[in-house]
Amino acid sequence: MPNKSQINLKTLPKHVAIIMDGNGRWAKSKGKLRVFGHKSGVRAVRETVEAAAELGIGYLTLYAFSTENWNRPKYEINALMKLLVSSISKETKTLIKNNIRLSTIGDVNSLPKDCRKELDETMKITANNTRMQLNLALSYSSRWEIVDAVKQIVTDIKAGNIKADNIDEELFGSYLDSSHSPNPELLIRTSGEYRISNFLLWQIAYAELYFTDKLWPDFGKEDFYAAILDYQQRERRFGKTSEQLTEA
Ligand code: IPE
Ligand code: IPE
Ligand code: MG
Repeated sequence: MPNKSQINLKTLPKHVAIIMDGNGRWAKSKGKLRVFGHKSGVRAVRETVEAAAELGIGYLTLYAFSTENWNRPKYEINALMKLLVSSISKETKTLIKNNIRLSTIGDVNSLPKDCRKELDETMKITANNTRMQLNLALSYSSRWEIVDAVKQIVTDIKAGNIKADNIDEELFGSYLDSSHSPNPELLIRTSGEYRISNFLLWQIAYAELYFTDKLWPDFGKEDFYAAILDYQQRERRFGKTSEQLTEA
């Protein structure tokens, strides 16, 4: 089993993003309803947040609900929203105690009112916390985020705030909903699926991808350490040759 002490704290990724997948299959394998899987996934969230903060990861982004997830059965959506409200409300104290700042990415205005209220309150209370930023991706999809950025850029061009000629990668990135966080260096997906499902497409251009068969409710600190250790063994070349990296 991977051990925390094997991790080099000097070469940690600043930002880790996770596609928390497999709650439904986990529940099904136990003969339970999908919603039971979502409820059980909360423990994995708690452990992962704790593991990341303890290591000294600066930003952790968790994909909790996608734009496409609105197409699920209504009762499942309602249960997820209820769970979101109760979990945030329960975990606020822990976030404060651990000096963690809560933030969101996604179309949060599409969430039910009580969810927005709970989120707003916790974000306000934790706004000045400095140990780690926890981003919840809610009603999020990368294509939504990119189209939304384009709309804002067009509005700013029309208003004369920016010139079309000045649009570059940096300016474009600054219009993304997630511009409050650096690009993730590591993206983890659980449940044995090898796809991105509309998550952070722009931001993961050079991220290291890590896939594990573990279903999300079974994911724990050791699994997080395993992903970090795997990341630390990769050579990130950014288009250069291996020799160029060792010469420098
Ligand atoms: C991830 O688990 C949670 C959400 C997408 C909200 P799933 O609900 O997708 O579980 P599986 O993939 O069907 O097993
Ligand atoms: C991705 O999981 C979204 C979240 C983890 C919130 P899905 O289960 O919705 O993705 P697909 O449908 O398998 O691609
Ligand atoms: Mg899934």
